[in-house]
Amino acid sequence: MTLWHGRFAKSPAKSVREISESISYDKELYEEDINGSKAHVAMLAEQKIIPLSSAKKISSALDQIKKEIENQTFPFSEELEDIHMNIEKALIDRLGGDGAKVHTARSRNDQVNLDTRLYMRKKIRAISENIRELQRSLISKASEYKDVIMPGFTHLQHAQPILFAHHLLAYCEMFERDIDRLEDCLRRVNVMPLGSAALAGTTLPINRKSTAEKLAFPKISENSLDAVADRDFICEFLSALAIFAMHISRLSEDIILWVSQEFSYVSLGDEFCTGSSLMPQKKNPDVAELCRGKTGRLYGNLIHLLTICKGLPLSYNRDLQEDKEPLFDSVKTVEKILAVYPQMIASITCNKRRMLEAASDPGLMATDIAEYLVMKGIPFRNAHKMVGELVKHAEKNATTIDKLALPEIKKIIPAADKDIFNLFSPSASVSKRNLQGGTAPEQISSRLKFWSKKLK
Ligand code: ARG
Repeated sequence: MTLWHGRFAKSPAKSVREISESISYDKELYEEDINGSKAHVAMLAEQKIIPLSSAKKISSALDQIKKEIENQTFPFSEELEDIHMNIEKALIDRLGGDGAKVHTARSRNDQVNLDTRLYMRKKIRAISENIRELQRSLISKASEYKDVIMPGFTHLQHAQPILFAHHLLAYCEMFERDIDRLEDCLRRVNVMPLGSAALAGTTLPINRKSTAEKLAFPKISENSLDAVADRDFICEFLSALAIFAMHISRLSEDIILWVSQEFSYVSLGDEFCTGSSLMPQKKNPDVAELCRGKTGRLYGNLIHLLTICKGLPLSYNRDLQEDKEPLFDSVKTVEKILAVYPQMIASITCNKRRMLEAASDPGLMATDIAEYLVMKGIPFRNAHKMVGELVKHAEKNATTIDKLALPEIKKIIPAADKDIFNLFSPSASVSKRNLQGGTAPEQISSRLKFWSKKLK
């Protein structure tokens, strides 16, 4: 029997039970539901709304129920719809009248909101810590290959030489902003909704501040309708996770390119690759591909929830029960990604010779020549044009700009001197980009120091 059958003559049809139930997935919230109820009954007793003896009995029965859930001996029932009613019914079965007091001054509408916030608080902290671990793996790989030079790309075309470490540190910055977004989201998650009850609050003399203190919430919700109706805090979280996944997806794409035969810049540890059931020679970067692919579900989950929420009249509507599956799916997906990614990064080995060879393409130093001319007093736009012509001339003669003789160069760039040939070194090129945010070894070293200290 459900807990709301009082005004009904008939039980819900089986098909109704099947579409209504959320216990199959919201049991994930059992711990939060129990912690929330314990704080709630302690407050009810403080306020003399229920006897202290009832609160104590409820609390210890909840501890018992928690153990049973963890030992998988707790009998969940679909008929009881969700985690809240499963636990409440167990309390009533065990404690009778005392158990029937737990739901005083509370509705499942504020209860589910509380549970979700508690769950997210826990997950945000854990995910942030795991992103830190990922940053650590990037920092240690960047330190290991501190001096490796590779081509930097725009439009997937050779652009300018960069340090491999610079490339990895770019992701470290992105992941830092991902953590920042999660922490910012946490401020809005960390608000205590209990007391909002079904939608308008309660006539009973509860003390919301006390409940908030017991559950370590720094803030209490200010509008009961808003508290039970809005899921913006989940939308934000799913958005932060979707953006994180976008970063993972781009890093994955870089890795997939780098391990391809065409690039051959890096290789991954065998334990992070898979073979083909047909082609014996294959070593595929499936982990990176799967992480890139999983980004789709993370985007989907965000759109899923935004779509559920749009057009709902205030306040609570049952549509909101559909918030949980995308939330849990995003969390689990990100947990899986973060369990594998740092180890996969650690397994990278660089093919330094191949990377340097690619970065030694003299075309990559064309900007350096234009900037060299700027220092000789030539306006940048004119310098750019001259170097462009030099590249065109070399191409027409089936050679590269570094192979041209000085008199030939001077015909196109009269201001050129023999020191122009010093510019064709990729290591000189990176070293000269010695400004904050630039790719010079000095800059990368100091950023590596910054990260090592921060991530300690
Ligand atoms: N399982 C429900 C949910 O997730 C709990 C709230 C149900 N409230 C209600 N009025 N039927 O939203």
